[in-house]
Amino acid sequence: MSKMCECVEKKIREEVREIMKPYKQEKDNLIQILNEIQEKYGYIPKAAQMEVSEYLGVPMAEIYGVITFYARFTLEPKGKYNVSVCLGTACFVKGSQAILDRLKERLKLEEGKTSEDGKFSIDTTRCVGACGIAPVFTVNDEVYGHATVKKLDEVLDELEKNEK
Ligand code: FES
Repeated sequence: MSKMCECVEKKIREEVREIMKPYKQEKDNLIQILNEIQEKYGYIPKAAQMEVSEYLGVPMAEIYGVITFYARFTLEPKGKYNVSVCLGTACFVKGSQAILDRLKERLKLEEGKTSEDGKFSIDTTRCVGACGIAPVFTVNDEVYGHATVKKLDEVLDELEKNEK
């Protein structure tokens, strides 16, 4: 990922200060603040982490640890199409791992990563509440049930076609 320009960094730090204003400078507020940042930017930029670290007095390494521990936090922006495969039990036993493997192979991306052109990213989830139609993958808010590798290929073909 290219280095962020200083003015963008400054803007993010100012915005994050605003977000944190209602919160007391207590470590207990870390998750809630990170939630708000993730919501606003779609990821947790480095500049935001620095601002949170200073405000709450929590070391950067600890903030990084929290971000990487929780699946809902990401360190880089998601793609225009965030393709997420459910690895919850119902989906897993019905073969969702093969769908994830195909997705990674096809997009040449690892889980949690975004393509350089910003079009696609890969995620995994633990149950999206659609176990009745397992296995499931999603593209942004759209849920695809009874998924197969073939179906994934068709959906990706379609998305790629739209992008041409
Ligand atoms: S386990 Fe995948 S939707 Fe519930």
